[in-house]
Amino acid sequence: MASAFAPGKCILFGEHAVVFGYPAVAVAIEQGVHVTVENSSEWTLEGIPFDPSRHPHITHIIKELFEYEGPPLSLNVQSSLFSAAGMGSSAALSNAIGAALHSHLNPTEPIDRIKMAKMAHSAEATAQKGRASPTDTATSALGGCVVVSGGHVDGTRHVFDTSLLTPEGKRKWSINVVDLPASVSDAWLVIGYSGKGSPTGRMVAKVARLLSDRPERFEDMEAIANITTAGLTALSAGNLDALGMAMDACHESLQRLEVSNSALDRLVEAARPHSLGAKLTGAGGGGCMVALTKNPKRVSGAIEVAGGRPLYTKLGSGGVRVL
Ligand code: PMV
Repeated sequence: MASAFAPGKCILFGEHAVVFGYPAVAVAIEQGVHVTVENSSEWTLEGIPFDPSRHPHITHIIKELFEYEGPPLSLNVQSSLFSAAGMGSSAALSNAIGAALHSHLNPTEPIDRIKMAKMAHSAEATAQKGRASPTDTATSALGGCVVVSGGHVDGTRHVFDTSLLTPEGKRKWSINVVDLPASVSDAWLVIGYSGKGSPTGRMVAKVARLLSDRPERFEDMEAIANITTAGLTALSAGNLDALGMAMDACHESLQRLEVSNSALDRLVEAARPHSLGAKLTGAGGGGCMVALTKNPKRVSGAIEVAGGRPLYTKLGSGGVRVL
C-alpha cells in the first residue's frame, strides 16, 4: 500500500488581480488531503465501485498522465478541507493521488514536486474545461509560500514556468517562492468558512463585467497589486503588523470589486478585534475568510459565534509528500 498527503492553500493577496496578470501570494496550510492506493480485485473509491465518469480528474491522472494499465486499484481519500470553498481541495486531491500512485509504482524513487505541480495542473485543467490557474496546484505541490504571476516578481525565487491552452488562448504563468522568516511562526491563520461554496467561475465573470461597465474600477485592481507588493515585503521581513494591515487593505479593495458578501464581512469583522488583519480569501461570493493572529483560539471562537466554521494553521506548511 502507498499513501501520500497534499496540503490545501490559502490566498493571502492578489485573488482576482492574478487573472489580469498581477501577482498572487498563497501559503500551504496544515490541513489537506490524504490518499492511499493499493492493488485490489476491482476498482474502488472509498470501498465503493469506482465510476470513471463521476471522477474525470482522478481518471485523467491514472489513465492519461500515468498511463496506468496495471491491476485494479483501491483508492481511499480523507480530506480535512472544506470543499468548494477556495481552500484548494481539488488541487490537493490531484497532488495526493499523483504522489500516492507514483510511490505505489516506483517505491524507491522520490517524488519530483515540480513534476507533481504540472501533473496536477493538467488534471485540474481537464476537470475545469481548460481554465485553471496554477495557484492551487503549485502551492499544494511545493508547500511554503508561493507567488504566481505573469512575470518575475522582485524578492522571490523563480521555480518554474507553466502554460495552458485555454478557450481564450494560451496563458503563461511564472511560479516563484518566498522563504518565510522564523518570526512568521509566531502567527497563525484562522480560516473561517461562511457555510456556502465559492463559485469561482461566476465571481471571475462578475469582476470582468464590472470592469467592462465601469473601467474606473481598474483603480481597485491596481490597488490590490500595490497591496500585494507591500504584503509580500512584510511577509519576507517577518513584519506581522504590516502583513495584517495589508490584509485589511486587501479586503477593502475586494469589497469595492463587489466580491465580498455579508456573511464574509461579518466573519472578518468578528475576527478583527483579536487579529493583526483579516480579509476574504479566494474568489469570494461565499467560501472563506482568513485572519492573521497570535491568538487562534480566541479568533476561532469569535468566528463560530458569528456563524462561521473555523480551522487554524501555521503559515507555509510542507508540500505534497509520500507517507
Ligand atoms: O478558487 P479560489 O477561491 O481559490 O480562488 C480563485 C482565485 C481567483 O483569482 C479569483 C481566480 C483564479 O483563477 O486565480
